[in-house]
Amino acid sequence: MKRVDDFRLKLGKDELVPIMIGGMGVDISTAELALVAARLGGIGHISDAMVQDVSDRRFDTSFVKDKTKLYKYNINNSDKTDVKFNLDQLAEATRLHIGKTMEAKQGKGMIFVNCMEKLTMNGPRETLKVRLESSLDAGIDGITMSAGLHLGSFGLIADHPRFRDAKLGIIVSSVRALQLFLRKNSRLNRLPDYVIVEGPLAGGHLGFGMDWAEYDLQTIITEIVQFLKAENLDIPLIAAGGIFTGSDAVSFLENGASGVQVATRFTVTKECGLPDKVKQEYFKASEDDIEVNNISPTGYPMRMLKNTPAIGDGIRPGCESYGYLLDGSGNCAYITSYNREVAANPDAKKIVVMDKTCLCTHMRNFNCWTCGHMTYRLKDTTRKLPDGTYELLSAEHVFRDYQFSVDHQIALPV
Ligand SMILES: Cc1cc2nc3c(=O)[nH]c(=O)nc-3n(C[C@H](O)[C@H](O)[C@H](O)COP(=O)(O)O)c2cc1C
Repeated sequence: MKRVDDFRLKLGKDELVPIMIGGMGVDISTAELALVAARLGGIGHISDAMVQDVSDRRFDTSFVKDKTKLYKYNINNSDKTDVKFNLDQLAEATRLHIGKTMEAKQGKGMIFVNCMEKLTMNGPRETLKVRLESSLDAGIDGITMSAGLHLGSFGLIADHPRFRDAKLGIIVSSVRALQLFLRKNSRLNRLPDYVIVEGPLAGGHLGFGMDWAEYDLQTIITEIVQFLKAENLDIPLIAAGGIFTGSDAVSFLENGASGVQVATRFTVTKECGLPDKVKQEYFKASEDDIEVNNISPTGYPMRMLKNTPAIGDGIRPGCESYGYLLDGSGNCAYITSYNREVAANPDAKKIVVMDKTCLCTHMRNFNCWTCGHMTYRLKDTTRKLPDGTYELLSAEHVFRDYQFSVDHQIALPV
């Protein structure tokens, strides 16, 4: 009976334990979590989502305070056209976050950054270029392009000295998305080093519509394997979404994948950035407590716990401080929904907005409890303590459980 450790992920000359911990936005996949994966010979992700806020919290910078001060005059204005990111500051925050993480790296594994295209930051092209370039400047091992088709992203960094040496990958949820990506980038003569194929059971935003339940990860991988074979292309595929045990992972490794990307099981580790109280919510959840909804202003469906505080909350849009989802013309779907509710309820003290959420503010405050479909099984991965809470795990324990377990077993903490 095989275990994950019988396989290796080959990326160019490098051979890695074929386990990636997925990027989890706004410092849920912390540097500490990514560093464990790298130390154990796998791949960890940090995320550059809301990097200025992450930098303020970690390195005592004041990017958010300064931005808020600069645009304070606009807070009651529903037109957010003025609210732009200072590109030098964005580069500085990115370099700090990535640079400090890379300085701390030990072991043979790698650390990648998850870079979401949907963070349009009221200037999609120029901000994405700065994010990608400064990540490379700061020595990141690789960049995973996510939440978007990224048709122009490789082109934005084609002149960077590390364009051909850093590992570059993309996340897709269909063979069509991959075909489109390859076609649009063919002139660059630079294939992705890996492709993460994310199925419908993942956490965060989904690359599917509300009919997500009709799709199946293995089927999508098989389609992509066939396409790559027909095109004579050799790109390692990484399976993601709902892989809960080492044996789940082995099944994908035996059927077309060269690695797996996992996240949900790490949300309840000590190294994960979620507050401990929120980790307990993840442990407690039953299958019925999880939903896929449309409240993300990005337009992508998102999976989360139903008791997420972000659902229905009508907080004033926080764009002057954050503004990561402004589309380039000063718009965000939450602002539209919020203004509609304010106009309909002029005397209300508390505004309720059901159809969209202020994702920046709520992700920043860990009040949007996005999670994978398998979250309801987390309680089976640990033990209950006398006070009724669940024991948090170490990331090393979970990583090794994926690496060495057989027969769908899950090792409890020792
Ligand atoms: C809490 C949480 C946050 C996530 N945030 C992001 C994100 O910011 N960007 C992204 O590309 N994927 C995100 N994901 C998806 C994961 O990186 C990963 O691909 C997926 O969840 C793997 O499936 P699993 O959670 O069933 O193991 C997130 C997942 C979780 C659980």
